[in-house]
Amino acid sequence: MIQALRGMKDLFSPENEKYIYFIENCSRIAKNYGYEYIETPILEETALFKRSVGESSDIVGKEMYQFIDKGNNDVCLRPEGTAGVVRAFIQQKYDKAKVQKKFFYYGPMFRYERPQKGRLREFHQFGVESFNQANIKEDASIILMLRDMLDFFGISYKLELNSLGCPDCMPTYKEKLVEFLQNEESICPDCKRRRDTNPIRVLDCKNKSCQEIYKNAPFLIDNLCSTCSDEFEQLKKILDKFIIPYVINPKLVRGLDYYSKTAFEFVSDNIGAQSAIAGGGRYDKLVEYLDGKPTCGIGFAMGIERLMYLLIMPQNKRSGYYIGALCEEASEICFDLAINLRKTDKTNINYDIKSLKTHLKNADKQNARYCLCVGEDELAKDLIWIKDLENKAEKSISKNELLG
Ligand code: HAM
Repeated sequence: MIQALRGMKDLFSPENEKYIYFIENCSRIAKNYGYEYIETPILEETALFKRSVGESSDIVGKEMYQFIDKGNNDVCLRPEGTAGVVRAFIQQKYDKAKVQKKFFYYGPMFRYERPQKGRLREFHQFGVESFNQANIKEDASIILMLRDMLDFFGISYKLELNSLGCPDCMPTYKEKLVEFLQNEESICPDCKRRRDTNPIRVLDCKNKSCQEIYKNAPFLIDNLCSTCSDEFEQLKKILDKFIIPYVINPKLVRGLDYYSKTAFEFVSDNIGAQSAIAGGGRYDKLVEYLDGKPTCGIGFAMGIERLMYLLIMPQNKRSGYYIGALCEEASEICFDLAINLRKTDKTNINYDIKSLKTHLKNADKQNARYCLCVGEDELAKDLIWIKDLENKAEKSISKNELLG
């Protein structure tokens, strides 16, 4: 029997309802913040991710679904959404026009990771990207929007915050960090490799003995230039004003190379080891890395599967119609009724001839508001029998009333 690939899942009830509920409400909130929907291809040139997410990152180095297509192009399934949106922004020449643009998107992402609870190879993100808004208030707005979304679903979280500096302060800090690492021969082989390729990445090493050593490492947050430091203070003030609790995590470096300045993660204590439910930050150099005109950007993405563990659906109210025939001769009128009612309401029809009791049971199972039945008596008098399953009232009404 052919099965879905490891780390990939089919979406059935009741998860499918949660997924739609989640997307609809995040889209609504994003629109309130001035974001418009964008869709970019799932397949992109591999070079796009090498030059944005970064060759030294685990995502590009180890986790890409990469292949050569029939036209000899090196392509891969997108491991994340930001790079594609930035490519589309530049391709549309929005960078040259210097326009402010805000996009939201959702869909599947692919990372060849070791599957476990909350970690899939095909997973889904809801993300937003905002271009050409250099103001620190935009960083706060993005965090407020994410807070609004999680609050709407009643999902609790912890916000971790850091600043990854800018080209004025990051290079000097990197030198300091490398100097510190040179004297630490007991760090793990992975960290030794990172010391040469991307030293700040050592800080989120999962190895306990490395973490013990990094307690004494210099942190960028203590080495920011005055601009980055001032902006970070302003951001904290706005978050305080809106009562968004946060912790400063100086080791929060994110797993993608394009970030500068604000970086953040929303984490949950209630979903096991894979606790990051959303992550994002500023990427003021990314448009240039991808050959666009200098344009600042900021965004985040949420992991939908992880959030679906935490999301409790509101009680589903009864809605729509269930229609059932009680005799063969009534099936035609039932079919006509369904076609008409579907113009305005959710309507399910059961083509099988069943007893009134069975139809009522089915209508109840389907959470319908009204059960409509037609039998010989109703046919003879041009009536439809209808029961309101909420207040239990039942009556017969003229067929023309429902057929319009
Ligand atoms: P990320 O932190 O790599 O950021 O992913 C965002 C979220 O996707 C994570 O917090 C997590 O909830 C979810 N996620 C990541 N990998 C998996 C997986 N294998 N299985 C299930 N869920 C997963 C980004 O992707 C950036 N593009 C976010 C961003 C947008 N930054 C700026 N704009």
